[in-house]
Amino acid sequence: MFPKRKFIAAIFVIALAAILVLPLYLCNQKATAAYHNFLGSEDFKKLSRTHQVAKCGVCHKQQFENELKGPHSHAYQMLKEHRDFVNSDKYDCDFYTRQVNRDFEGCTGCHTPQNLFETILYDSIKKPEKLAAELIKESHLRPETRDGESARATSIDCFSCHYDGKQMVSLKHITSKEDSIPEHQTVEVIAKNNISCFLCHADVVKTMNPAFAIKRTGSVLCINCHQEYDASGKGTHYYFWNKDPKEKVNVDIFSLLNDFHFKLLPNRKAGEITWINTTIPHPMSPGPEMVFKCEVLDKDSNLLGTKVIRTNKKKQFDAEMYANLENNQLLGIEGDAVTFDGTPLTYSIDLKNPAKAELFRISLLHKAQYWFPDSLGVLTAVKVNSVNK
Ligand code: HEC
Ligand code: HEC
Ligand code: HEC
Ligand code: HEC
Ligand code: HEC
Repeated sequence: MFPKRKFIAAIFVIALAAILVLPLYLCNQKATAAYHNFLGSEDFKKLSRTHQVAKCGVCHKQQFENELKGPHSHAYQMLKEHRDFVNSDKYDCDFYTRQVNRDFEGCTGCHTPQNLFETILYDSIKKPEKLAAELIKESHLRPETRDGESARATSIDCFSCHYDGKQMVSLKHITSKEDSIPEHQTVEVIAKNNISCFLCHADVVKTMNPAFAIKRTGSVLCINCHQEYDASGKGTHYYFWNKDPKEKVNVDIFSLLNDFHFKLLPNRKAGEITWINTTIPHPMSPGPEMVFKCEVLDKDSNLLGTKVIRTNKKKQFDAEMYANLENNQLLGIEGDAVTFDGTPLTYSIDLKNPAKAELFRISLLHKAQYWFPDSLGVLTAVKVNSVNK
């Protein structure tokens, strides 16, 4: 009697479990198959852009959270802060302020663009090579901006990089036969290269070998270096920038500091710094500046000498902007150009008491504009080595 009752009870439990779980399972399968179906619904279309982006975060939690910490989600905000700053009492350079005010609408195209794959990149799906060749030209296509403050608020968002007007596009997608409504699903197309980056970052790409810009080979994807990866090697969708939060460590920045070497000269009266770049693979954008403050210290950390090294494109960009700036030059100090072929850049550094040199410290400051004061820069890395005697 007893065993039989136990058996019936077991059957009952299993049946109950199946009744409870089966609908969940089926429901889940359906939800996966039609995961982007909501894009076509009237309710979704009525939401503000901010709420539409938040909807992506419901299922893509990590991408959403990291995206909000990175540069692209801040781009419109930063642009407006920039305009406010140059119009405030804290800033005193009228010709520049006038230029920013005059050109402001033009600035918004890259800082809060229309959906790229719905507009200028639409054809890239069918003709990626043709488009890439077009984009690498001097006067290439530029993104247009969106209308209205509410639509602009999200800056460069999920839709800017992933939406073609109908569906989501990415490098990753493998179309599956479970996709019940194919035209509403993500498709296997797109960004087989760096196309989605170089519309706005053309200044980085322009001077490079076109193969670097348009070919999608493992070693040359922009996101290989500019995205954070987790321990298993999967991209986290966080892009490093000059205002990284504390928990986001960009190892490239630290490798950069390893490219600087210090030695005392044989006469032991001065020092020499050599910079052999093995980290940066491409020329800089026109705006930013890197400031490397190199300091030689004694064993008690007293300062014996300082050398400041800058990299920026002041010479070239000032010339480019001259007419736009009512025949003026931007402020700032001309910096060096990084070399890419292993040629060392060498600097001498005067030392108060060379015999006492013990430590060599480098601090890296990132500035978004070379023409703004160093006090507006962000200290991104510091490294201390002992001096080789
Ligand atoms: C109901 C859940 C859900 C919502 C909401 C959602 N997605 Fe997805 N998305 C998925 C699933 C499931 C996949 C396929 C598995 C994967 O790649 O993570 C996917 C895949 C993707 C992919 C990768 C490409 C691919 O085909 O594999 C992108 C890009 C994407 N979604 C973007 C978005 C954006 C942008 C939004 C907001 C408009 C969004 N998703 C909203 C569930 C969702
Ligand atoms: C062709 C696209 C494009 C246009 C047009 C453009 N920008 Fe930018 N802007 C960028 C990119 C890309 C960056 C990031 C550059 C970098 O750091 O390498 C940037 C960065 C900036 C930053 C730095 C933000 C920070 O992190 O502190 C400011 C400020 C800025 N732009 C202002 C402007 C102003 C003002 C204009 C118009 C006069 C303008 N931009 C027009 C693409 C553009
Ligand atoms: C600046 C452009 C850009 C923006 C903005 C952007 N993405 Fe992406 N996203 C990419 C690129 C490029 C890839 C391809 C990554 C790869 O293949 O490894 C990608 C990949 C993805 C994937 C595939 C899985 C993965 O993480 O590699 C998902 C899902 C995704 N994005 C969702 C989102 C969501 C959600 C948002 C908004 C919160 C967003 N993306 C904003 C450029 C962007
Ligand atoms: C629609 C224009 C646009 C697209 C597309 C775009 N970016 Fe950006 N990117 C910007 C702007 C504008 C900024 C400056 C944001 C800020 O600092 O406020 C920026 C900032 C950055 C930064 C930080 C630069 C710094 O000085 O710290 C990196 C790195 C970057 N983008 C890489 C990429 C990569 C990789 C892609 C392609 C997946 C991409 N971007 C696509 C416009 C764009
Ligand atoms: C092999 C690694 C690597 C690749 C690939 C790469 N970069 Fe960089 N990039 C760097 C390093 C290193 C720096 C300098 C450190 C920093 O500022 O983050 C840098 C700096 C930048 C900056 C910020 C400084 C500036 O001058 O504006 C931007 C924006 C940028 N890269 C965009 C791109 C784009 C777009 C691509 C793809 C066409 C790309 N990078 C490909 C390594 C790489």
